[in-house]
Amino acid sequence: MASASLYSLHLVLICLFPYCVTAQTYRNITLGSSISARNDNSSWTSPSGDFAFGFQQIGTEMFILAIWFNKIPEKTIIWSANGANLVQEGSKIELTTDGQFVLSDAKGKEVWTATLPGTEVAYAAMLDTGNFVLASRDSTNLWESFNQPTDTILPAQQFDQGNRLVARYSEMNYSSGRFEFILQADGNLVLYTRAFPLDLVNTAYWSSKTVGSGFQVIFNQSGYIYLVARNGSILSMIASNGASTSQFYQRAILEYDGVFRQYVYPKTNGASSGRSMSWSLLSSVPSDICMSITEDTGGGACGFNSYCVLGTDQRPRCECPPGYSFLDPSNQMNGCKQDFVSQDCDGLQEANLFGFRDMPNTDWPLSDYEYFQPVSEDWCRQTCLNDCFCAVAIFRNGNCWKKKIPLSNGRLAPSVGGKALIKIRQENSTCKSVGEGSNNNDRSTLILIGSLLLSSSVFLNFLLLIVTLFVTLRFNSRRRKMLQLCPAIQGMSLRCFTYKELEEASSKFKDELGRGAFSTVYKGVLDLGNKNLVAIKNLEKVVTEGEHEFQAEMNTIGKTNHKNLVQLLGFCNEGQHRLLVYEYMSNGSLADYLFGNSRPSWHKRKQIAFGTARGLVYLHEECSNQIIHCDIKPQNILLDGSFTPRISDFGLAKLLKTDQTRTVTGIRGTKGYVAPEWFKSMPITVKVDVYSFGILLLELICCRKNFEQNIEDERQMVLADWVCDCYEERTLSLIVENDEEALEDFKTSEKYLMISIWCIQEDPSLRPTMKKVVQMLEGDVEVPLPPGASSFVS
Ligand SMILES: *[C@@H]1O[C@H](CO)[C@@H](O)[C@H](O)[C@H]1NC(C)=O
Ligand SMILES: *[C@@H]1O[C@H](CO)[C@@H](O)[C@H](O)[C@H]1NC(C)=O
Ligand SMILES: *[C@@H]1O[C@H](CO)[C@@H](O)[C@H](O)[C@H]1NC(C)=O
Ligand SMILES: *[C@@H]1O[C@H](CO)[C@@H](O)[C@H](O)[C@H]1NC(C)=O
Ligand SMILES: *[C@@H]1O[C@H](CO)[C@@H](O)[C@H](O)[C@H]1NC(C)=O
Ligand SMILES: *[C@@H]1O[C@H](CO)[C@@H](O)[C@H](O)[C@H]1NC(C)=O
Repeated sequence: MASASLYSLHLVLICLFPYCVTAQTYRNITLGSSISARNDNSSWTSPSGDFAFGFQQIGTEMFILAIWFNKIPEKTIIWSANGANLVQEGSKIELTTDGQFVLSDAKGKEVWTATLPGTEVAYAAMLDTGNFVLASRDSTNLWESFNQPTDTILPAQQFDQGNRLVARYSEMNYSSGRFEFILQADGNLVLYTRAFPLDLVNTAYWSSKTVGSGFQVIFNQSGYIYLVARNGSILSMIASNGASTSQFYQRAILEYDGVFRQYVYPKTNGASSGRSMSWSLLSSVPSDICMSITEDTGGGACGFNSYCVLGTDQRPRCECPPGYSFLDPSNQMNGCKQDFVSQDCDGLQEANLFGFRDMPNTDWPLSDYEYFQPVSEDWCRQTCLNDCFCAVAIFRNGNCWKKKIPLSNGRLAPSVGGKALIKIRQENSTCKSVGEGSNNNDRSTLILIGSLLLSSSVFLNFLLLIVTLFVTLRFNSRRRKMLQLCPAIQGMSLRCFTYKELEEASSKFKDELGRGAFSTVYKGVLDLGNKNLVAIKNLEKVVTEGEHEFQAEMNTIGKTNHKNLVQLLGFCNEGQHRLLVYEYMSNGSLADYLFGNSRPSWHKRKQIAFGTARGLVYLHEECSNQIIHCDIKPQNILLDGSFTPRISDFGLAKLLKTDQTRTVTGIRGTKGYVAPEWFKSMPITVKVDVYSFGILLLELICCRKNFEQNIEDERQMVLADWVCDCYEERTLSLIVENDEEALEDFKTSEKYLMISIWCIQEDPSLRPTMKKVVQMLEGDVEVPLPPGASSFVS
């Protein structure tokens, strides 16, 4: 009596709640009931409305028979019947009049059925726990979705010996994937990789180590998940960040990436439903899947040729190394493929077509076929480069491992240490055709010979021929869009450095060599074969828009190679850090040499003029992309061990463009090395460098700065003006009157002065090209009388 009235009170209470409507639709699902797959959201809901059983649409036209959290917008699926075998609209799940529970497709063909014992089913019910049951007349459960879990378990769900969860194939593909979570009959709870596509387990990557004692996994109402022994004692705690089921929806799922994760979702009580909510992650087993899979075969967590890195969100990400790309961009766990043609093992020696990209803290622990110790990093690079089987070399503390394709089980993590040297073809497939026509070994030899011959003008034409050939080859390869490549070995290829490497090389940027408006240069020591000292230029004001542009500029600079240029060896492009690594020039800058205490010999100065001019010819006319230096001045001409002039800082104009003009004028005032067109709205051409060279040549002739304030005779304050005045007054010998050597060789010094006057003509079109300047300096071409030079005063 009392219990009956309590029951009706309960009903009244229920109807005061918002889910009253849902609650009323609840009933035992009787024999003969069915739901059809169409997008009308029809389902069988649990009494509370928390769970629903029915069809969910996957993609545009397929349906999955599933159970889901029904009160949250995500409608998160916790169980499904036909993940590997989706059905079309019009398919039907039916509890037949004879007690069978059958999913049939639109044509009536059976797709799935609940396996039942002999006893007759009387009804079905969607319970508030998330369990869907088929029960007999006496309410014994004959079939439960809880006993046939797919990839998820819920609180109150028993997970017994023999039960297993199989991960999905991918986030949105519900067919069986590559991982399995199983409580074995021997009592051990184990995470396995699967022998996909077979329905078998492969190798364990986590286990509770409870052989002989594990009995049941419990997911209790406070959100704890643990393994118990038969006597109830806890053997292994899997998740203990408990959250109560009264406030949170909970689920634990073996996700497609092989991690068993527990999630919670706050239950809204009607009022606060406006807020946006989501599942939050409480725990993960294993905590770092990237490092957990150690089996001898297979692709690891990310497939072959890829590597796994744990994100800050504690989720693994699969990435391809440089030169590789995803096999299936829509499923990054499927691994990566090589984007270039592998090294040819017979015939041509292709080693010089390959280079390395360095990846610190990266390893593919399983793919090695050769191992050396103790060796240097250079040795390791070289041995991999010369071996057509070697795809990657791992170098760590004097150990060198050679790895072959397919690379398996890659990972990137600080604990890995060392570095992976990824070998990639630098010029993709071009080399094949180039290699057949003219051997690439020959090509670099020719360039070498070419630069040696540079010192002799007889071979200039020959050199031009070679350079043209070289430029053509290079130009063709440029179009292959391999900008991101940073090959690591000598010659014209550049090396990529990490910021840390350069920080170490320069002892934390201790020894400053010089400082400019946009950069500071430090001395450093790097192990690059025989070149030990380097100059590391830290670009502080790079204005380039993108990574790509920077790389493109590096590519252009990296392809230059001339004995009168400072060779770029490599660079670092890491976040906001942009650093360039150059050869170290032991004799400092021309400015220090020329304006120092002792006057360099006239012969030496003439040679410096030659060399600088030749370097400019190369930049203007001989490299594949014309380079306008824009900032020729004695500070940017460096002297190597044998006082050969080397132009530095070329190719940076584009990266530092906006600051360039302002910087230069700002420092030097109007009387500088700066051509007048900078101050007018005239196009900037190679002739701006000719102008600056003209000023530089005057300074070389006179061993003084173009502008010197502390000179008694005001007429002599600006060297260029004074020279022009003297030229007009035919008193050029006054310029060198204090320089015995230059006076003795007055024919030459006069010629040089006239060349300077040609170079500093206000009208750029009157200025000679640098090639013409070289010819005049060398005496191959007569120097015509210059027009009265403009003295450019603003
Ligand atoms: C469902 O059917 C069983 C057996 O017929 C019965 O005992 C139970 O009370 C029914 N439940 C509801 C909610 O109707
Ligand atoms: C099905 O549910 C979705 C959201 O859950 C809703 O947008 C849609 O209108 C519903 N369709 C029908 C036919 O009720
Ligand atoms: C899911 O992945 C499997 C395995 O690659 C594939 O055979 C199946 O077609 C995929 N299913 C869907 C719906 O994309
Ligand atoms: C329960 O079983 C475990 C493993 O079988 C055993 O180590 C433990 O001593 C048992 N505890 C009790 C109280 O029996
Ligand atoms: C769930 O298990 C934990 C750990 O054993 C225990 O502290 C907690 O009281 C349990 N909660 C419930 C509701 O049984
Ligand atoms: C390299 O060459 C191969 C074969 O010609 C081509 O399929 C691939 O797309 C190329 N890769 C790049 C990055 O150009």
